[in-house]
Amino acid sequence: MMQQRQELYVKKIKDGTVIDHITPGFALDVLRILGINGKSGEVVSTAINVESRHLHHKDIVKIQDRELKPGEVDKIALIAPNATINIIRNFEVASKKVVELPSTIRGIITCDNPSCVSNSREPVEPDFAVDGREPIRLRCHYCGHVMEREDILKQF
Ligand code: CTP
Ligand code: ZN
Repeated sequence: MMQQRQELYVKKIKDGTVIDHITPGFALDVLRILGINGKSGEVVSTAINVESRHLHHKDIVKIQDRELKPGEVDKIALIAPNATINIIRNFEVASKKVVELPSTIRGIITCDNPSCVSNSREPVEPDFAVDGREPIRLRCHYCGHVMEREDILKQF
């Protein structure tokens, strides 16, 4: 079988979450989204720019004894739209979900245009159309301002 041709880059975990098929080079951003800086004791392993199927590359993050909150998954979808979230229980993959990037993004990030109505004191929820998927490109519903991946990452 294909899998047996190569060793695992990071060993299997007993319980926790494996975020797989992360856009290569973005594992550290995923860790930042999850608030993991290594100082609070979580056991985490990461592989960056490793070979995936079809000669592609990917990043992987494995976090022991932690499951992700929906808000965290929504943020990961913005920078790694092909990521899979595998919940591991007693060494088995108990569930596997591909993150979902909806066609509109509401309330996760704010518009960088200071004069945008969504930045006024009015209670207007930020609302973006997804113009590009990978790399992500968001267009503000109110002012048309375009937010690119680096702009979005600055808010995480
Ligand atoms: N994994 C792990 N620890 C486990 C079980 C799985 O770290 N106890 C990891 C695997 O190494 C893999 C991911 O979780 O990176 C998903 O596992 P699995 O579904 O078995 O692998 P694939 O079939 O290759 O997944 P996909 O089809 O999503 O690529
Ligand atoms: Zn705007």
